[in-house]
Amino acid sequence: MKLTILGGGGFRVPLVYGALLGDRAEGRVTHVVLHDVDAGRLRAIARVLAEQAAGVSDAPEVTATTDLDEALRGADFVFSAIRVGGLEGRAHDERVALAEGVLGQETVGAGGIAYGLRTVPVAVDIARRVARLAPDAWVINFTNPAGLVTEAMSRHLGDRVIGICDSPVGLGRRIARVLGARPREAWVDYVGLNHLGWVRGLRVAGRDELPRLLADPSLLGSFEEGRLFGTEWLRSLGSIPNEYLHYYYFNREAVHAYQEAKRTRGAFLRDQQARFYAGVADTAVPALDLWDRTRAEREATYMAENRETAGAGDREEEDLSGGYEDVALALMRAVARDERTTLILNVRNRGTLSPLDAEAVIEVPCLVDASGAHPVSVDPLPGHAIGLVCAVKAVEREVLAAARSGSRETAVKAFALHPLVDSVNVARRLVDGYTAAHPGLAYLG
Ligand code: G6P
Ligand code: MN
Repeated sequence: MKLTILGGGGFRVPLVYGALLGDRAEGRVTHVVLHDVDAGRLRAIARVLAEQAAGVSDAPEVTATTDLDEALRGADFVFSAIRVGGLEGRAHDERVALAEGVLGQETVGAGGIAYGLRTVPVAVDIARRVARLAPDAWVINFTNPAGLVTEAMSRHLGDRVIGICDSPVGLGRRIARVLGARPREAWVDYVGLNHLGWVRGLRVAGRDELPRLLADPSLLGSFEEGRLFGTEWLRSLGSIPNEYLHYYYFNREAVHAYQEAKRTRGAFLRDQQARFYAGVADTAVPALDLWDRTRAEREATYMAENRETAGAGDREEEDLSGGYEDVALALMRAVARDERTTLILNVRNRGTLSPLDAEAVIEVPCLVDASGAHPVSVDPLPGHAIGLVCAVKAVEREVLAAARSGSRETAVKAFALHPLVDSVNVARRLVDGYTAAHPGLAYLG
């Protein structure tokens, strides 16, 4: 079975390859094709993978190419994990927004819109090529902003593109852990958009254990989200929000902390990764070891500013290994081998969340088998959550429209309608600032 990874020179590719190495079952991936626009990054990651594979019998063969069409032809699965504009672009997304006093996070608020505007045209081009060159392939989209990008691709690939994120799984795992339940045995009632969802229940053997957690302040304060949001706010909500909702519920503090930070997250990762790729170019340097140390530092500093404003302290040891590769592998196995499973994924809504139309990509538990991912029916969201979900989906739709038409006015509308952008004038200046910073936004006439 052939798996093509777009963004194959990306830093997190070894996580995926590590998961593949652990898969010994019949029908596993035998050939990995790495595609990237940057040959140097491909060489660097190929070195890490070669060290990972050393001593593993029947390790999946790895080839690398900068030719997209060649990479796609004959693929059974395509993992799309690209970063248009690189980490330098992410740093610009943050800087331009923070200068206007609004959030510049990779996926949330103005930063997410800017990133979406330059990623969607590239993702659409990929989707069209997949439809032409590998019409039977399944595309698993890792590329952020994952919900928006999956929706853009679904217009060309239908339900053959499925978006993934590790944050709902991580959240479910943490809640199960504090409740003393085994994550595998828990049913996590989670729904929303990517990076904008809530856990409303966690059922073990048919019984909802979440009320027990919400009723116990010491239990509630004993894990990441409890410390980040504060127990009182979680009890007011009556649910546990995805960590990315910290940017909404504590927006002022988050913006302030990011403005005060020595370097933004994007700038930190830009510099950290530049050191990594330069280091690995020296063949005398053990690549896997350097990769692993770099990864550990990245994990430990994840959302550090948010945790600092909340006084949440360091991340827990158990939370430091993502799980994002496990979601991808579980999804691929379920589809390729018809191993029925349930996963929280980004798929088209159909009729799951009634205020949204059928084509809107949402993040929801899905039954997965050889016929794809099917959202399960869920209870309606409360009004405050519907309000946010609908507002952000409306913004995503403006981003998709702007990417298609190239209309600057539509791009302004996308920024202006976002709940975290507080003036139409700010939105206008953001479009000016972003088009000046990003060559990838030159299409906005
Ligand atoms: C979480 C999110 C991902 C994001 C990752 C890394 O896992 O769900 O969407 O890519 O964090 O964030 P970072 O700030 O390290 O790039
Ligand atoms: Mn994510």
